[in-house]
Amino acid sequence: MSGSPVMTSRTFNIDAIRSIFPSLNHQIHGQSLIYLDNAATAQKPQPVIDCISNYYSAAAANVHRGSHALTTSITNRFETARNTVAQFLGAKNNCIVWTRGATEALNLIAQSYGRQTLKPNDEILISEMEHHANIVPWQLIAEQTGARIVKWPINTVTCTLDMTVYEELLNEHTKIVCINHVSNVTGTRNPIEVIIKKAHAIASIVVIDGAQAVVHEPVDVIALNADFYVFSGHKMFGPTGIGILYGKEELLDTMPPWHGGGNMIKQVTFKETQFAESPAKFEAGTPHVAGALALSEAITWLNTLDRQKAAIHIATLQSQLIEGIKNINNLSIIGLQIGASVIAFTVNNACHSDIAILLDQQGVAVRSGHHCAHPLMDALGITGCVRVSIALYNTSDDIACCITAIQKACELV
Ligand code: ALA
Repeated sequence: MSGSPVMTSRTFNIDAIRSIFPSLNHQIHGQSLIYLDNAATAQKPQPVIDCISNYYSAAAANVHRGSHALTTSITNRFETARNTVAQFLGAKNNCIVWTRGATEALNLIAQSYGRQTLKPNDEILISEMEHHANIVPWQLIAEQTGARIVKWPINTVTCTLDMTVYEELLNEHTKIVCINHVSNVTGTRNPIEVIIKKAHAIASIVVIDGAQAVVHEPVDVIALNADFYVFSGHKMFGPTGIGILYGKEELLDTMPPWHGGGNMIKQVTFKETQFAESPAKFEAGTPHVAGALALSEAITWLNTLDRQKAAIHIATLQSQLIEGIKNINNLSIIGLQIGASVIAFTVNNACHSDIAILLDQQGVAVRSGHHCAHPLMDALGITGCVRVSIALYNTSDDIACCITAIQKACELV
């Protein structure tokens, strides 16, 4: 099945949204938590929490195994959840593979598609702003196949990718382009529409890490003509341990399995094994059933919201944050992307983790460090930075507290 989600009247009411996130009432160091580390993981709404709790409270059953009523029922729900994800991306059901997260999905592509197709001197073009999850699996498979990793450098002032440089780097050896849809550090939104078109023109495929994008903008993998698109559940209000690999049908069909085991076979003898069709071929072993159901619940909830209003809300909060910190003397914003959900910054002569600890003591949770993006840090000439990342449930008060906390921290260091 494919098509758009059922249209309902979508709303964006911040109080109603916050009321279903119990963890937003958490206290930290004796004060209300201001959670601004949403690019690391998002808080969970009550429907997601209830879904997980209900799955484990009810009589347990496995999926795709046996024929008793419980397993039939849970298998139906599991496959309906796959359909929810498929509709969310505008894809067909059999193009959606459950994984443990974006990282596992990228490793699967490298070890299955990459292992089958890459030859010595083939090139894997990787942007310099990738998360390690979209670099290391490619280094591993390059070493195993003799393919070469080629870096697509960033413009270190704007923290964006130059399309002229891209065109210069693409050549007949390029077989795979690896790119994030949105950078987890700077919030840079890459023009994946153009990147895909140009790669296809030289017969390369493109692997898109959508981990920081799907929660913020609708994605239609067919309109994009995406080859592979991956994301994790936990950054979009779902649980940890579940993620999605979307792959084009014709690619998935010709790819060998990565993991072997139960569910991914048609017939096994000691002489040989015949594999199941995709997506079962890539889903060896008992899957994270509760995770799949709860991710579907998160998507269903997200689909009730007016996502355009959500994006405007986040952009407004980002603008408030910029105004509040841009004149702090010793603070430098890194590669500011207007309208993004994140802002990364450094403070002169202060360690990023010291700033984050000072914010934490004031109840404000942000991430500090290299953000699993060492090559980006190297390009920028820094060891790390502080990242504030905003979700649709954050408020203007959250940002005001964050600004005050950053001002105080910058005075103290
Ligand atoms: N990739 C996640 C982040 O950027 C964990 O924080």
